[in-house]
Amino acid sequence: MSAQQPQILAIIGQGYVGLPLAMAAVDAGWSVIGVDNFEAKVAQINGGSSPVEDISDTQLQAAISKGVYKATTDYSTVAQASVITICVPTPLDDKREPDLTLLRNAATGIAPFVSNKTLVVSESTSYPGTLREIIIPVVNSFKPVETSVVYFASAPERVNPGDPVWNQKNTPRLVGAIDGESQKRALAFYESICDAAESVSTPEVAEAAKLLENTFRLVNIALINEFTQLCSASGINVHEVIDAASSKPYGFMPFRPGVGVGGHCIPVDPLYLTWWARQNGGKAAFVESADSINHEMPKYVAERALSLVDKGIAKPKVLILGVAYKPGVGDVRETPVSELRNHLKAQGADVAWHDPLVPVWEGSTPVELDWDCDVAILATKQPGMNLSQLITSGVLILDCTNSLTGQAGVSSL
Ligand SMILES: NC(=O)c1ccc[n+]([C@@H]2O[C@H](COP(=O)([O-])OP(=O)(O)OC[C@H]3O[C@@H](n4cnc5c(N)ncnc54)[C@H](O)[C@@H]3O)[C@@H](O)[C@H]2O)c1
Repeated sequence: MSAQQPQILAIIGQGYVGLPLAMAAVDAGWSVIGVDNFEAKVAQINGGSSPVEDISDTQLQAAISKGVYKATTDYSTVAQASVITICVPTPLDDKREPDLTLLRNAATGIAPFVSNKTLVVSESTSYPGTLREIIIPVVNSFKPVETSVVYFASAPERVNPGDPVWNQKNTPRLVGAIDGESQKRALAFYESICDAAESVSTPEVAEAAKLLENTFRLVNIALINEFTQLCSASGINVHEVIDAASSKPYGFMPFRPGVGVGGHCIPVDPLYLTWWARQNGGKAAFVESADSINHEMPKYVAERALSLVDKGIAKPKVLILGVAYKPGVGDVRETPVSELRNHLKAQGADVAWHDPLVPVWEGSTPVELDWDCDVAILATKQPGMNLSQLITSGVLILDCTNSLTGQAGVSSL
């Protein structure tokens, strides 16, 4: 970073990725402008209330009151920044293919205000070529005439929301830029925030590595979900098998079964990979198969839970415990529990749910843990969810989280 440039960072998108990045940058001495086009979120953040679990209100309020952080909807503020990072969602469209609308909008939004010698980094997850084929052409087309040089890099975010150990600072960051000067500046930026930044030769390598990381998780989860069904059919406890296999000190990594995969990353990113494969005339058959297996899990879990209920009950009452896609967050994006509820209802069940971190879900509100039910499904074990009374009350429970093993009335996936 040149000494003349102000240490101002602009981050586009103040969500699960952008806001923790903002706070990590503040800790590292940067002044941060958080741009988000969702007015209510900007007002909430500037009011000192954090919309993400990993950032406390206290931490946010401290940054705001020191004058080193502010959220805004105003894109023109990025003109002050020497570094702009893009952290907007990269979802799927109706055909379950990459939808880069928000990413294009972000690039279009910053372009007229990018100052000369600014570094623009994409942290959003996408297929290889996104920086070079989408972001750079947009920024270069609409940047001010006096902006002769813009540096570009890709540094896909690896944050794991709700993780008490791994965060923006101690998770190594991959950095791949379009040329030597961009690489030098991007490395200097991430080295100022993270303990380690790993250099790769191109943005495409960084983009592909991110897809590989998340696809690795998807296929291993699918493998264990399939294996779980095979073990269950033979009366074998899959968790004991996983524990046994884990005693091998090399070449094995334990994954656990569950209701499926959820969140903005694991169910989505591998489909960026399958789409990219098709664009290049190939087929990621293994990944497609894993995706299908995971999509079948909610139906399997619904059937397993209903098989526990007395056949004489015409409309079984089912309580789902935990609807967020993983513990420690209130994030319900792509949660497989949604499909679980659909399958239960399709089979005639009366379904209610409880999640201490989710106030409203798909238009419905939670019930208390003492809701009278015939079976409970522990889908996501949220911190602070005390199930001891439920267990003592003798309610049948299907535990999809391997956290209640061995307790009376509890069956495990
Ligand atoms: N959430 C994760 O665990 C995680 C982890 C690693 C990588 N990622 C990737 O990071 C990216 C961001 O994900 P997220 O989870 O932070 O999303 P998010 O939905 O939590 O936050 C994104 C924010 O961007 C804002 N936004 C959308 N379009 C905008 C625009 N054009 N201009 C300004 N703001 C805009 C939204 O209002 C929202 O507040 C995605 O590509 C995702 O795949 C997410």
